Amino acid sequence: MGNLWFLNLLLPLFLLQLFPILVVSKPYVFPEKYFINCGSDSSLPLGSRKFVGDMNPNSSSVTNGKTVKDSSQQSSLDSGLYQTARFSGHPFSYDLDITDKGLYVVRLHFFPFPNLADALFNVSASSKSLLSNFSVRNTTSVPVIKDFLVPISSSKFRIFFIPAHQSSIAFVNAIEVFLVPSLKDNRTHLSSAGSKGLYQGLPSQLLRTLHRVAFGSLSPSINDSTVVASEWVADDDYIVVRNWAKNCSYQSTIKLHYDDETMDTDNYTAASRNFIPDRVYMGCKNVALNDGQSSKSTNITWHFNVSRNAQHLVRLHFCDILSKSPNTVNFRVSIYNNFSQQIDPYQYSVNTAAPFYNEFVVDSGESDFISVSIVPWEGFTERFAYLNGLEIMEFITQPVW
Ligand SMILES: *[C@@H]1O[C@H](CO)[C@@H](O)[C@H](O)[C@H]1NC(C)=O
Ligand SMILES: *[C@@H]1O[C@H](CO)[C@@H](O)[C@H](O)[C@H]1NC(C)=O
Ligand SMILES: *[C@@H]1O[C@H](CO)[C@@H](O)[C@H](O)[C@H]1NC(C)=O
Ligand SMILES: *[C@@H]1O[C@H](CO)[C@@H](O)[C@H](O)[C@H]1NC(C)=O
Ligand SMILES: *[C@@H]1O[C@H](CO)[C@@H](O)[C@H](O)[C@H]1NC(C)=O
Ligand SMILES: *[C@@H]1O[C@H](CO)[C@@H](O)[C@H](O)[C@H]1NC(C)=O
Ligand SMILES: *[C@@H]1O[C@H](CO)[C@@H](O)[C@H](O)[C@H]1NC(C)=O
Ligand SMILES: *[C@@H]1O[C@H](CO)[C@@H](O)[C@H](O)[C@H]1NC(C)=O
Ligand SMILES: *[C@@H]1O[C@H](CO)[C@@H](O)[C@H](O)[C@H]1NC(C)=O
Ligand SMILES: *[C@@H]1O[C@H](CO)[C@@H](O)[C@H](O)[C@H]1NC(C)=O
Ligand SMILES: *[C@@H]1O[C@H](CO)[C@@H](O)[C@H](O)[C@H]1NC(C)=O
Repeated sequence: MGNLWFLNLLLPLFLLQLFPILVVSKPYVFPEKYFINCGSDSSLPLGSRKFVGDMNPNSSSVTNGKTVKDSSQQSSLDSGLYQTARFSGHPFSYDLDITDKGLYVVRLHFFPFPNLADALFNVSASSKSLLSNFSVRNTTSVPVIKDFLVPISSSKFRIFFIPAHQSSIAFVNAIEVFLVPSLKDNRTHLSSAGSKGLYQGLPSQLLRTLHRVAFGSLSPSINDSTVVASEWVADDDYIVVRNWAKNCSYQSTIKLHYDDETMDTDNYTAASRNFIPDRVYMGCKNVALNDGQSSKSTNITWHFNVSRNAQHLVRLHFCDILSKSPNTVNFRVSIYNNFSQQIDPYQYSVNTAAPFYNEFVVDSGESDFISVSIVPWEGFTERFAYLNGLEIMEFITQPVW
């Protein structure tokens, strides 16, 4: 027995060579700071977050602006967060003391009261323009929530709200600024010319969320205030090639395999609980290749509107809720028509129903949309392809005027 002791030393080395790092993904827990209930003197709990009134702040300060309360405002999402706001015809700003440097979600909530509906303003932070010429006048769904990812490396963080011109006003109902794990670097980069490379420098980018889409979900929209990315819309309006697309869903009584030992590889990232709603991983759109069909013409394709000549982080969420046993399916994902990547759900986990995501940096070039397709693969036992969730974030490069 004694002469086998060295296996204990060798085995980990051997595994490291064969496989990438084993990680156990931990559930995300919201930090205490900073959740601000603008224009209010009282604190308000929302899930595990406590929104502190900006008239009695303890970790932020606000300069200028007036407060307004409108108790007639009703929203199913909250209990009072949208009944107060701070507004002004002059610039105002919030100052936060940052103790932990890193990547922050910056989330702004706007709920236009009748007398604020004509507001037209700019929002900036970290010398970049987060929103410019922003108006909520014609939005059909309220509240309007804008989400950003901002790397913060200084000890002060300041957000400016600036009326777009002399006769307009700026306002905000609630602000969230909270620490999340940094983005991984060196993602596959698809330039508009269709070439492939590695994108370096992702952790230092400011990003604006454009789309969060849940595929095949039973309800048209998902909002879940217990997770980081709470608002999702259904995919059906984005489909351009439908073929034999089907909605799929997973019984909510069955467990998603988040917390198993999983492998983070270059292209596959283990999802953590509490980042996106479980329900996104419990639904999907899928397409199957029937006998006699060619994978060249059997796919589902979606188009997502973006700005021309911009760079985007495209994050695709997968969770194999369809296979009865692992290792029976492989398929392809295409971005535009000229890039495709094999998706092997079992590169990453030995279980079915294990949530993970892949990220790509995509240049839009002259295109005003990003095209995403899933394509079944002929050479495997199960010949279907699926997609559970998608996020598209635009790189913010516009400096403050
Ligand atoms: C801020 O004040 C609220 C009560 O208004 C309290 O619950 C919270 O713990 C305080 N946070 C910090 C970071 O001091
Ligand atoms: C949030 O979702 C619930 C259903 O889960 C829905 O009734 C409610 O209207 C949604 N709220 C918003 C603001 O979308
Ligand atoms: C800002 O918006 C206003 C009205 O919506 C428009 O008239 C103006 O041209 C816009 N300015 C810029 C710089 O986009
Ligand atoms: C809002 O919609 C009205 C007509 O419905 C239009 O005249 C106006 O330009 C729109 N405003 C903005 C800011 O898009
Ligand atoms: C707000 O942004 C618009 C569009 O970028 C710009 O034209 C305008 O000058 C800005 N207004 C102020 C007061 O900075
Ligand atoms: C990204 O790639 C560069 C160049 O190959 C390398 O120096 C760097 O360490 C990589 N970064 C990460 C986080 O893997
Ligand atoms: C790749 O697709 C983009 C967008 O459709 C197109 O502009 C580009 O020419 C294509 N590149 C190649 C090499 O086919
Ligand atoms: C998927 O479900 C949505 C919402 O119930 C529905 O509107 C849509 O038509 C369904 N799509 C397919 C392909 O069955
Ligand atoms: C990651 O994806 C890129 C682009 O498709 C591919 O070249 C590379 O081999 C993949 N790496 C791994 C470890 O699968
Ligand atoms: C998807 O299918 C359509 C025909 O149904 C075909 O024209 C298109 O090239 C296919 N796209 C991909 C990425 O395979
Ligand atoms: C996407 O852009 C096109 C053309 O600009 C427009 O017709 C369409 O309504 C947009 N789709 C969405 C979902 O906004």
